[in-house]
Amino acid sequence: MVPVADLSRRGRRLAHAFGAAAERIASSGHFLLGPETDAFEREFAGWLGAADAVAVDSGASALQLAMTALGVSPGDEVIVPAFTAVPTAAAVCAIGAVPVFVDVDPRTATLDPALVEASRTDRTRAVVVVHLYGRPGDIPVIDIPIIEDAAQAHGAVSPHSGSAAVAYSFYPTKNLGGIGDGGAVVTGNAGVAAAVRRLRVHGMTEQYVHPEISQNFRMSEVEAAWLRLCLPPLSDENSRRAATAQRYRAAAPHLRWQEPHADHVYHQCVVRVADRASFRQRLADVGVGTAVHYPLALTQQPGYAQFARAACPQAEAWAAECVSLPCFPELTDAEVTHVAEALARVSE
Ligand SMILES: Cc1ncc(COP(=O)(O)O)c(C=O)c1O
Repeated sequence: MVPVADLSRRGRRLAHAFGAAAERIASSGHFLLGPETDAFEREFAGWLGAADAVAVDSGASALQLAMTALGVSPGDEVIVPAFTAVPTAAAVCAIGAVPVFVDVDPRTATLDPALVEASRTDRTRAVVVVHLYGRPGDIPVIDIPIIEDAAQAHGAVSPHSGSAAVAYSFYPTKNLGGIGDGGAVVTGNAGVAAAVRRLRVHGMTEQYVHPEISQNFRMSEVEAAWLRLCLPPLSDENSRRAATAQRYRAAAPHLRWQEPHADHVYHQCVVRVADRASFRQRLADVGVGTAVHYPLALTQQPGYAQFARAACPQAEAWAAECVSLPCFPELTDAEVTHVAEALARVSE
């Protein structure tokens, strides 16, 4: 079976270098917010061409702290696309703010910018644009701070292109995937970066002085060291993902694909099918693994449906029909060919 993900392939490649880094950290005695985290922040910002990157403990924390730094407070509203990973909305709820779901563009699966203005109220404080599956979403033109959720889109979006902050996740399966949890806030706004640096350490400004109420959102030195090993090959890996997706699309033009984009980094390569169970079974029968990201829109999630206002039929249609195909950089050429041949033969 060609797997839809296999982290052991990257793990085995990096194990030796990671062992040396772990030994270096253990004997330094500096386990948190030390030289590895400093270096990772510099290197990740440099790779993106960004002014600053602040490392935190997860992508959801990155979103939460970016919003807090931008002044989102309990009771405020934040617009989020109705089709995304749940943590996009969970981060809003963590502040005590209210997520307002807006439908997605049926072609791109990302926030439909034409619907944003109508969902705005006098309590709207931010808009989150999610670059779902690694495809850059359209940034709405609006006088409210935009936060980009680039958890799935390392390298797909230029920094400082009109948004106030970009949040990244380093969850292990992501394009830049950690050996545990991690995230980062990338911003050109020095005030936002400084606020996130305070908020990630309990709102502390000097030893045991806490002007703001916050919690622990620190990244560990071990995580930062692993991510530093993953960064140098990331551009080539993103190209490999895009080339794999291109093979699949060329082999199966009869299928319904997420609309392409020149900067798509293919965290997932996704196709839409009417009868998902049968389609997945037919691929499994010929040795092709698949996954579903995600089976429910936020309007359909048991814990989040309470926030639904307007109907979001396009988000729910994506949730009903999406299928993710094997598209990670360590796939062998033979595996990619096998999947492409299977797709050429399978009907929707
Ligand atoms: C689009 C999106 N936003 C936010 C997150 C949250 O990231 P994390 O799992 O690192 O908290 C994820 C990943 O799970 C994601 O895919």
